[in-house]
Amino acid sequence: MTHDTTLLNRERNFFTDGETLWLFGYGSLIWKAEFPFHELRPAHIEGWARRFWQGSHDHRGTPAAPGRVATLVESPGAICQGMAYRIDAETLGPLDVREKNGYLRERVMLHFHDGSHAEGLIYLAGEHNAAFLGDAPLDAMARQIATAQGPSGLNCDYLLKLAAALEDLGAQDAHVFALVERVKEIKKRATKK
Ligand code: BEZ
Repeated sequence: MTHDTTLLNRERNFFTDGETLWLFGYGSLIWKAEFPFHELRPAHIEGWARRFWQGSHDHRGTPAAPGRVATLVESPGAICQGMAYRIDAETLGPLDVREKNGYLRERVMLHFHDGSHAEGLIYLAGEHNAAFLGDAPLDAMARQIATAQGPSGLNCDYLLKLAAALEDLGAQDAHVFALVERVKEIKKRATKK
């Protein structure tokens, strides 16, 4: 199931032409920043929680067996930690293509560790996009992540790399770390069989 958001994102130019802008990464962008940037800074956003609720039919799964990757859900009081990149607007073009399966550019306020803040962008896969899977019991999500794979690799590698990057940042994320524990148990049990 795909929902190609490339063209929609091209219209979502929220920032002044010729000026750099902040992009906040909360998923693979934290550990896989294969794009040019001027500066990177650990940051957080408020009122959003990271959740493995977005289906991946093109990167970490297939249409027949989708994986689960991160999106953000509105959650009053929550804090989501990640990495902010100061980029040229043109850099968004290839990212729109890479993250085309349901993710739309949205504006958010980014908070930096020194107490300063700036408006920036996130890629958000909202609940109405065709690839959205939503919530499920932890065990079911972990089983899906433990078994799915796609053109970009194993779904569990995405989860483990994200967890390692969050640990490096000293970031808390109960949802991500609970999934990691469960996926590791499932994998361990599978190798004993
Ligand atoms: C992120 O890391 O912020 C991200 C990566 C892929 C799609 C959407 C967001």
